[in-house]
Amino acid sequence: MKIFDTHAHYDDDAFDPDREDLLASLPTEGICGVANVGYKKQSIEATHALADRYDYIYEVLGFHPDETWEMEAEKDEILPWLSAQLDRPKVIALGEIGLDYYWDKTEREIQKKWFRAQLSLAKEKNLPIVIHSREAAQDTLEILKEAAPAPGTLVMHCFSYSREMADIYLKMGYYLGIGGVATFQNAKKLKEVVAAAPIGQILLETDCPYLTPAPFRGKRNDSRKISLVIKAIAELKGMEEEEVAGICLENAYRFYRLPQGKDGVK
Ligand code: NI
Repeated sequence: MKIFDTHAHYDDDAFDPDREDLLASLPTEGICGVANVGYKKQSIEATHALADRYDYIYEVLGFHPDETWEMEAEKDEILPWLSAQLDRPKVIALGEIGLDYYWDKTEREIQKKWFRAQLSLAKEKNLPIVIHSREAAQDTLEILKEAAPAPGTLVMHCFSYSREMADIYLKMGYYLGIGGVATFQNAKKLKEVVAAAPIGQILLETDCPYLTPAPFRGKRNDSRKISLVIKAIAELKGMEEEEVAGICLENAYRFYRLPQGKDGVK
C-alpha cells in the first residue's frame, strides 16, 4: 500500500528529537510522498530545508489565517517575498490559507484581506490551493465564491463542516481533506460526510503532529498512521482498504499535478 500524505508539518518542534530517523524511514514504510505545509515565515524556510533534503517531500507554502498578522506587519513586501518562495522547484500548492474564527489569533478583517490576496496570488502562479477554515463556514464560502478557483484546484483541508457544506464544495469540484478525525468515535458528522463524498474527491492527510487517529489519540501523529484513516474510510464506504488507498493516491497526484512514479515513489 502506497500513501501520499497531502498535509503534514514535519518542521514542528514535536519532531525535533527524532526527525532525521523518522523521515529517513518513511519511504521504507510505504510513504511515497509528503506535502509539508509551511504556514508562516519560519515554517516556510524550514519546509525548504526538508524538501531540499528528502526526495519525497514537497512544499505547500502560504500564511495560515492565524499568522496573517505577520503579513500585515510587512505589508507591501510580503507578497513579493511569498511569490518568490513559490517559484522553488518542489512547490506544489499555495496554502494553508483561509479563516480561523476559533482561535481568532488575528483580527477577522485582516484574515479576510490576506486570504483574498493569497487567493489572487495562487491564480497568478497557477497553483492549487489548500484551505484552512475553522468556525468560519459562511465567510469562507463567500470569499471562495468570489475568487472562484477552477474545479479540481482546491482542497478543504481537515474538513469539519456539515454534510450540506460538503455537498456545496463537492459540487464546485473541490476536494475534502480527511484525516484522523474520521476515526474518532464521536465524529458522527464527519463520518456522514465521508460516507457520502465521492472517493475521487477525498485527499488523505495527517496534519501531523496533530489529529492522531484512534486508538492513538493524544500521541504524536505521523504519515504511517494514515493507514488507520484508510481503514475508517473503507468501513464507512463499504470498500476494500487497498482500493481506497489506490484511488486516494491517484487523487493526490492529480490534485498536486505530480506525475505518478516520479521521484520519491518506490
Ligand atoms: Ni495544517
